[in-house]
Amino acid sequence: MHPNTLIFLFVVFISFILNAFHAWSGESPPLVLSIGSDNGGTDIYGRKWGPDSKYLDAKNSIATKASFQDPSLISDIPYMTTRIFTSEASYKFPVKSDKRYWLRLHFYPSAYNNFNPEDSYFSVVANGLMLLTNFSASITCQALSQAYLIREYSLAPLNSETLAVTLKPSDKHAGAFAFVNGIEVIPMPDLFDSATMVGSSDQLDVKSLNTQTMYRLNVGGQYIPPSNDSSLTRTWYDDLPYVTGASLGITNHVSKNVKIDYQDLPEYVAPADVYGSSRSMGVTKSITQGFNLTWEFQIDSNFTYLVRLHFCDFYYTKPNQLVFSIFINNQTAEPTADVIGWTGGKGVPTFKDYVTYVKDGSGDQKLLLALHPSDATKPEFLDALLNGVEIFKLGDTTGYLAGSNPQPSPMLIKAEEAAKSFEKPKDNKAKVIGGAAGGAAAFGIVAAICAAVYQRKKRIPGTESQTSSWLPIYGNSHTTGSKSTISGKSTASSHLSAAAQGLCRHFSLAEIKQATRSFDESNVIGVGGFGKVYKGVIDGGTKVAIKRSNPSSEQGVNEFQTEIEMLSKLRHKHLVSLIGFCEEGNEMCLVYDYMARGTLREHILKCKQPLSWKQRLEICIGAARGLHYLHTGARYTIIHRDVKTTNILVDENWVAKVSDFGLSKTGPNMNNGHVSTVVKGSFGYLDPEYFRRQQLTEKSDIYSFGVVLFEVLCARPALNPSLSKEQVSLADWALHCKRKGTLDDMIDPHIKGEIKPECLKKFADTAEKCLADAGFERPSMGDVLWKLEFALQLQENKDGSTHPSERDTADDMPRNPDMAMHYSNLGIESEHEVSDASTDTSAIFSQIVNPKGR
Ligand SMILES: *[C@@H]1O[C@H](CO)[C@@H](O)[C@H](O)[C@H]1NC(C)=O
Ligand SMILES: *[C@@H]1O[C@H](CO)[C@@H](O)[C@H](O)[C@H]1NC(C)=O
Ligand SMILES: *[C@@H]1O[C@H](CO)[C@@H](O)[C@H](O)[C@H]1NC(C)=O
Ligand SMILES: *[C@@H]1O[C@H](CO)[C@@H](O)[C@H](O)[C@H]1NC(C)=O
Ligand SMILES: *[C@@H]1O[C@H](CO)[C@@H](O)[C@H](O)[C@H]1NC(C)=O
Repeated sequence: MHPNTLIFLFVVFISFILNAFHAWSGESPPLVLSIGSDNGGTDIYGRKWGPDSKYLDAKNSIATKASFQDPSLISDIPYMTTRIFTSEASYKFPVKSDKRYWLRLHFYPSAYNNFNPEDSYFSVVANGLMLLTNFSASITCQALSQAYLIREYSLAPLNSETLAVTLKPSDKHAGAFAFVNGIEVIPMPDLFDSATMVGSSDQLDVKSLNTQTMYRLNVGGQYIPPSNDSSLTRTWYDDLPYVTGASLGITNHVSKNVKIDYQDLPEYVAPADVYGSSRSMGVTKSITQGFNLTWEFQIDSNFTYLVRLHFCDFYYTKPNQLVFSIFINNQTAEPTADVIGWTGGKGVPTFKDYVTYVKDGSGDQKLLLALHPSDATKPEFLDALLNGVEIFKLGDTTGYLAGSNPQPSPMLIKAEEAAKSFEKPKDNKAKVIGGAAGGAAAFGIVAAICAAVYQRKKRIPGTESQTSSWLPIYGNSHTTGSKSTISGKSTASSHLSAAAQGLCRHFSLAEIKQATRSFDESNVIGVGGFGKVYKGVIDGGTKVAIKRSNPSSEQGVNEFQTEIEMLSKLRHKHLVSLIGFCEEGNEMCLVYDYMARGTLREHILKCKQPLSWKQRLEICIGAARGLHYLHTGARYTIIHRDVKTTNILVDENWVAKVSDFGLSKTGPNMNNGHVSTVVKGSFGYLDPEYFRRQQLTEKSDIYSFGVVLFEVLCARPALNPSLSKEQVSLADWALHCKRKGTLDDMIDPHIKGEIKPECLKKFADTAEKCLADAGFERPSMGDVLWKLEFALQLQENKDGSTHPSERDTADDMPRNPDMAMHYSNLGIESEHEVSDASTDTSAIFSQIVNPKGR
């Protein structure tokens, strides 16, 4: 026999064996389909998507392409192609009758040929199971402020060799059509078993139920794309946007010498990256006892939810070292959770399932997960720990899973209309940032919308235009419980969804003139590179600050629009928010929240009534939260570039807000590789490393913030040319004094007596670390925030005794330098790729023209 023939026969034999094995093992290959595409393709994570036509059992479809690629689309495959169905159509997929499957549906509601996504209403039924009904991908995406969305279902064994997914346009809407961009049918093991009902001792058998995934978070860790999960190709998101309440806790990361040891747990339950990172409360009893580590999730009411918690303690080794209670919607799910007690060892993962029914309450569609240390069993340490969360909606006995479309607030609709006026195709920057952008959550309800409709109690008839019925409200505002409002996060949370986009109101010039009494000079409250800043009143009483462009300003229309687009996406309790803009003729104005108490600098340096030490600390903490959000909470890393006491403003309730991030720069993706020759920022606050290397990283903000901390402590300006040479720069002089032990002499005499020594030490150490010469030696903003919160605790500690941290006397954090890295250090972005942007884009940032600022 010819050797080639032999080889051929051998290959045939092997493939026969493999096929037989496949059939025997009961596996069917996963189907990952890019709908409407001829040949499929590969997404940015390297996953292959195949064409769909061979599974389609219909002749009535129109395969087409989207005409506009939203910059936030992480991958053009599968989203840029689709199939439009104007009448009922089915996909038929071969499946094993006794297996569970993931069914994932991807939707990108965009304009396809002459089809307007707003006309699309349809139902999706899988073998008789209603998954979606009267579904509008367009309304849902709009309400969630996302460009695309993914619905993930886990279908219980179908007792059939075929899975039929039927899309049916609604007959209630004239011209309705159905579409879908991607379908995945992935065989999965039995992930579900029985689970404890919260608030009763009963178990619910989940094995045979259909589920819809609501959330899947890698707690204390980062985004994990489908390609980095097991064969189950799940997506795991960062939990930070959902952490709410008094403190973020701290994040921990497993050190290299501890291996995640799955033992009996199948590895597909969750990847090692999930178990290798966690969020805990901190180490100091006086702090951890004082709050609940809390996450908040928006959900549909009137459904039962399975909450799966993943745990792995990679620090402790013995039972009863760390014991905590778990609460779900204020009910005790687990009074004494002891991870090592459950798993028997360090680095061994486990998970726990809890089931809770969320009543159709007073519009309160929230699920709260809270952890609190328990001392019921007198454990060694008071802390709590969580590594991962998954929340699944359970189908009822009829299997029904579909909720109704969310209702976008009128404000959102207006915002979209305003945004459309500048919509233009642009090059796809989102691709470059890949993983970071992918952190934006995209499951159905995942995103929180950060602004709520502000219903004015009384309208003043005839005084305002149609647009004046709303204003954004942030963070801790009370929102109406009305179901019709997408109120998003309505608690004190200051951490908004990465996907939450801002909203922006369009003002007419007449409104602006009315607000400022025709730009009356007596209303001027500041002058910047962009032009003058006016105080104004809109909507019959709301105070705003209005930045008016200098007609001779170098800032052009495009830059103005770019700035609006960027700023309007940022909403946070500790950021001064852009309310809206006006663009008419030559006039360009930006309308911001009015900060009644002006700048931090005025309060530190000029005020007749000096702030107390506690007030100062609280303002620093607020500003740190705002900066932390810029660095990690938004879709892109945003580097402020001009952190200083004049850019930290205070509102009437003494809430600190960071302003002027118009000068900011988004992180690594902007104009890679180009090094600007112009260093931006304010002298006295400028990071020497940035100055030397002209490489911009968020650590430059940390340096500037360190200067702010010393300024607050010493009540002297960052630069004081009237002093002797070595004292001119506050940063240099404070470091010098700190090292010599003479810092006490520099402290503002107004507060010197108030500061507790241990608080001072913590505060000054933190400021010193911020001023480290090399960026990598400086803490992250999250660490700074935590240290300041800790300093505040030390200050408030009533009995005056020190509380050395319970486990680590050297420092409160990190508890182990290997494991306690903040997640931002874990490589979402590589700092070294960051470079200053080219001059063409830098021109947009308003204050640059005049480095002196206001
Ligand atoms: C995914 O895994 C690859 C290879 O292990 C790794 O290089 C990459 O950083 C991971 N991506 C994320 C976002 O974790
Ligand atoms: C909640 O569920 C019950 C029973 O399934 C149903 O009668 C009721 O209309 C539902 N309420 C809402 C708001 O969907
Ligand atoms: C849980 O308790 C908090 C504070 O007491 C309350 O605001 C919230 O409405 C409660 N949530 C539920 C679901 O009962
Ligand atoms: C933590 O949450 C539980 C359940 O909602 C509540 O009973 C308890 O008071 C909370 N503790 C703190 C310190 O907020
Ligand atoms: C379908 O959804 C839209 C938008 O949420 C709603 O206005 C309409 O009443 C719904 N139609 C039906 C038949 O439920």
